Amino acid sequence: MSQQRPLELVAKRELAPNTLSLQFRFIDGESFAYTPGHFVSLHFDYRGEPVRRSYSIATRNETPDAATELEFAISYVEGGKASDYFFAAEPGTRIGVSGPFGLLLLPDTLPERTFLIATGTGVAPYRAMLPRLAEELRAHPERQVVLLFGCRTRAERLYAEEFQAFAAQHPNFRYLACLSREEPQGERERHGHVQSALAEFAPVPERDMVYLCGNPPMVDEVFNALKEKGFGVKNVRREKYVFSAK
Ligand SMILES: Cc1cc2nc3c(=O)[nH]c(=O)nc-3n(C[C@H](O)[C@H](O)[C@H](O)COP(=O)(O)OP(=O)(O)OC[C@H]3O[C@@H](n4cnc5c(N)ncnc54)[C@H](O)[C@@H]3O)c2cc1C
Ligand SMILES: NC(=O)c1ccc[n+]([C@@H]2O[C@H](COP(=O)([O-])OP(=O)(O)OC[C@H]3O[C@@H](n4cnc5c(N)ncnc54)[C@H](OP(=O)(O)O)[C@@H]3O)[C@@H](O)[C@H]2O)c1
Repeated sequence: MSQQRPLELVAKRELAPNTLSLQFRFIDGESFAYTPGHFVSLHFDYRGEPVRRSYSIATRNETPDAATELEFAISYVEGGKASDYFFAAEPGTRIGVSGPFGLLLLPDTLPERTFLIATGTGVAPYRAMLPRLAEELRAHPERQVVLLFGCRTRAERLYAEEFQAFAAQHPNFRYLACLSREEPQGERERHGHVQSALAEFAPVPERDMVYLCGNPPMVDEVFNALKEKGFGVKNVRREKYVFSAK
């Protein structure tokens, strides 16, 4: 476990009815280096008990090797310690952070097509990847990136305006929201789970790479289906938001 660094909550806003964006600043005067796609552990005291939870870095930072702030998208889980703590936290609250961790990282060279697939707050690491993706997509117009985001309703589409604006600026980036409990509207929405939307693109292991993040059953189901098409750990990167045991 890497050493803990102190963070202070500086801003809090609602991203969706069940989800907050929390922005923290490092208060030890040092910068922090991470790669978009990484997650960290947040450490806090909950009713006298030390608690640690993992969160993906959501910040859209042009210089992630010298970050002074970190932003997270945190969804509310009924009866959860972190949920209770972070939803009640006010600016000025101080916590600890350790990391960064994880392997949900973009390769040095993007393949012909990259599928970024998420449910819920699992989309946070893809937002962090946008500055790097912008460079890649401008330099290589023939490469494509497709973001498939699964949520229950249109109101739960996290960062939808940002992803739509990014798609408008980059013709080789597509954003599709897969609504499981509301009828879709327009060409940027689909009904059902991300699996059905992915099938539209007929992914092939020879030219595609797939990223999966969020709901653990979603990650397992999509990975198992991709394995049957010849995909493996080389061209599928996974991050499951498994819940802590304590
Ligand atoms: C690598 C990684 C990255 C993560 N990144 C994020 C992130 O960016 N944003 C984010 O919001 N979360 C993220 N998580 C999940 C996060 O770490 C916590 O597990 C989550 O915030 C719930 O913590 P809690 O203390 O509120 O609930 P807990 O006290 O852990 O759980 C309370 C109860 O609810 C159950 N439970 C917990 N979560 C869920 C759920 N989602 N659905 C149904 N039942 C549940 C538990 O089994 C338990 O019974 C990530 C997890 C991992 C492993
Ligand atoms: N009760 C509610 O209405 C409600 C609303 C928001 C959040 N929450 C709670 O908040 C927490 C986090 O919620 P969340 O919305 O961020 O994440 P989530 O529960 O993972 O749901 C996000 C999306 O993933 C879909 N999904 C579920 N299982 C899947 C699978 N096996 N394959 C593909 N897609 C799948 C869901 O569809 P489905 O519609 O099929 O589930 C939903 O569209 C959870 O504890 C959740 O129970 C509850």
